[in-house]
Order: sequence, then structure tokens, then C-alpha cells
Amino acid sequence: MQNKSPSLITNSNGVHLSHMQQVRFSSAIVDYYYNSPVSILPQICTNDNIVFITDSNVAAAHPGIFEGRTTLLIQAGEESKTLETIERLCNELLEAQATRQTWIVGVGGGVVSDITGFVAAVYMRGVKCGFVPTTLLAMVDAAIGGKNGVNTGPHKNIIGTIRQPDFILFDPTLLSSLPDVEWSNGFAEVIKYACIFDKELFTELTANDISYYQKNAAALNGLITRCANLKNKTVAEDEHEKGIRKLLNFGHTAGHAIETTYSLPHGVAVSIGMVIAAAMSVEKCGLPHDLPARLRDLLRRYGLPATHAIDTGKIMSLLRADKKRNKEYIDYILLEQIGKGVICPLTFPEIESALKRHESNS
Ligand SMILES: NC(=O)c1ccc[n+]([C@@H]2O[C@H](COP(=O)([O-])OP(=O)(O)OC[C@H]3O[C@@H](n4cnc5c(N)ncnc54)[C@H](O)[C@@H]3O)[C@@H](O)[C@H]2O)c1
Repeated sequence: MQNKSPSLITNSNGVHLSHMQQVRFSSAIVDYYYNSPVSILPQICTNDNIVFITDSNVAAAHPGIFEGRTTLLIQAGEESKTLETIERLCNELLEAQATRQTWIVGVGGGVVSDITGFVAAVYMRGVKCGFVPTTLLAMVDAAIGGKNGVNTGPHKNIIGTIRQPDFILFDPTLLSSLPDVEWSNGFAEVIKYACIFDKELFTELTANDISYYQKNAAALNGLITRCANLKNKTVAEDEHEKGIRKLLNFGHTAGHAIETTYSLPHGVAVSIGMVIAAAMSVEKCGLPHDLPARLRDLLRRYGLPATHAIDTGKIMSLLRADKKRNKEYIDYILLEQIGKGVICPLTFPEIESALKRHESNS
């Protein structure tokens, strides 16, 4: 990854608005506007030919962003992540006479960025695109790294591309309208980074709580930038997930299957997935015995569950169709220590017995 020296963005009166950093991935260079007001968008998309994609909740919470702009709306929620939505949006882009010069800008949570990234990758075989993430989860994770996709049946993100956006603009003030449950969801991914990469972050999180970050703009911006940079560094090293990027799946393997089976929010399911993986880590990787309990305490501190009644049979049948599986095993992400994730190939019987242990303890 290369963070070029930040360049200043100024308005027409010469007033300093924002710092832009460029992050170099193997496929593209992406402009990151951290801690920047969404009002600078016209200075980023200089030809002012913008079509927004957003969802019903974000459109209602932040109408000013879309005033006087062509805006394509999706229904809020995971159910919108389908090929039908992609086709409908492509047709609406045609009706709006969007060309290859049009910027497609997704303003919303991970559902919007996944859909926008996909639409921008396939409309006219690829057009310019940017993201303005509006959930904590999208700011620290979903908007970053170029993965996009939709679901089919119970299979999550199974159809999609890896294509970087041209820019990402982070405006933490947009989080002011975010419901508390969505703050918790975002913290599941923050805690994930702490577990796999960043012991100091784990300590920082243990000393604080959601309201601390809600009230302290500098701490919140620091948290978002720190997590975004952890993901940038990982993706820059391994954009196509041959190795180190797999670490970002900590909590996600069982998590995705639990999310689909029980229609749980992404962060809640990841939280349960991390608890299951931490318990496996003690047995398989020598994670100290006290750490799963410390992780459970931290998750609860951020409003996340440490357990959920699961049906191992149902989860296993989805895991056997997981896109990350090999014939006999799945590259499971476990912990050697807090701050040190490792890739551990586990057979299906090994995973099954870990899930059964969780099932009987919950
Ligand atoms: N592509 C990736 O690398 C990646 C990584 C992680 C997650 N994801 C995907 O992201 C999705 C989850 O993202 P999410 O948690 O942001 O979900 P989401 O996009 O569904 O947003 C959660 C809820 O918050 C609402 N919302 C969004 N911003 C708001 C705001 N500022 N004020 C009020 N309400 C607001 C939304 O309308 C929605 O109801 C999943 O589909 C997951 O698969 C993708």
C-alpha cells in the first residue's frame, strides 16, 4: 500500500476542506477522503455528472445530500441484495441517460456499497464510482477493499466482482442518525480487527464503550481511520484473497451461515462467529484459556451477543457450500493471541464438533 502525501481540497474561496490520501492496490489507486464533509462531493466528481444510489432509510435521514440530484432508490435491507435489483438499477441508469462519463455514487451502508460497486462494475462494462459509507460497519469494512456482490437463495455474496471504487469519502457526522443497534453491528468488525491485527486497539476498546465514541469526534475519526488502514494494508498485499486477506474472515465463516439461517444482522452473526472461533483457537492454536471470556465481555460491552442457539446441522449444510471451502476443509481463521490471527485449514468434522460444543453450551 502507498499512502501518498495528503493533498489539500479547498473550496472556491480557498478554504481548506479536507485531506485526500491515495491508496495503491494492485488493480487501482483509490482516493480516500477521511473526516471530510459530504458537501465536497462536487469537487471530487468534477464533471458534476453524478447519479446517486441510496436506500430508503438513508434518503429519509439525509435528504439534503440528494436534493436536485438523480437518485436511484433501493429498499433498505439485505433482501435488496439480488440480481433483480442490479438489473432494475441498470435499467434506471439507462432511463436517466447515464453514460460512461457518469459517476455512480453509493451513499449508504454495506448493502448500498455492495450493490453500487456491482452496478458500476457491470453497467456499460464499467463506470466510475465512489462510496459515501453511512454506517460504522461500512466505514470500517464494507466500503473498503473492492469486493461487491449480491446473494442468491441462502448463499451470501456469491455473485459479484472485485473492483475498487475511484474514491471513498468518510463523513463521520452522517452517523448521527444511525440507530444504536447499527453502532453495535459496526463494532463487531472493529473488534474483529483488534482480534486479528491490533492488540492495542483491543485494550483501547476494553477501556471505552459506544457512547464514548459517539460523544468524542476525534476518537471516532481515529477509530475509523485506524480500521480502514488495517483493511487497506491487508487488501493491498492480497487483493484477490490468496493469503493474508483471508484473515478478515475471522468470525465470518460460521457467521455468514448463522446470519442467513437466523436472519440476524451481519455484526451480530459475526460476533457469534468470533466467539465460536475463539473457543476453537484455544484447542487448535494455543490461545490462552482466559481470552475467549475476555472477548465475550468485550462484545457484550458493545451491545453484541456472545451466544445464540444454533442448529449445527443447518449451519453445516451451508458451510459445505461455502465459497471459501476446498474439497475436504475450510481455511478457518483462528487466533494465536489477541492481535494475531492465523489461517488454519479445518476439516468439516472438526468444524462440526466445535459447532456442537457451542450448540450445547448455548
Ligand atoms: N464488500 C465487503 O467487503 C463487505 C464487508 C462487510 C460487510 N459487507 C456487507 O455489508 C452489509 C452490511 O452492512 P451494514 O451493516 O452497513 O448494513 P445496511 O447497509 O443494511 O445498513 C444497516 C441499516 O442502517 C440503515 N442506515 C444506513 N446508514 C444510516 C444512517 N446514517 N442513518 C440511519 N440509518 C442508516 C440502513 O438503511 C439499514 O437499515 C451486508 O450485506 C454484508 O454482506 C460487505
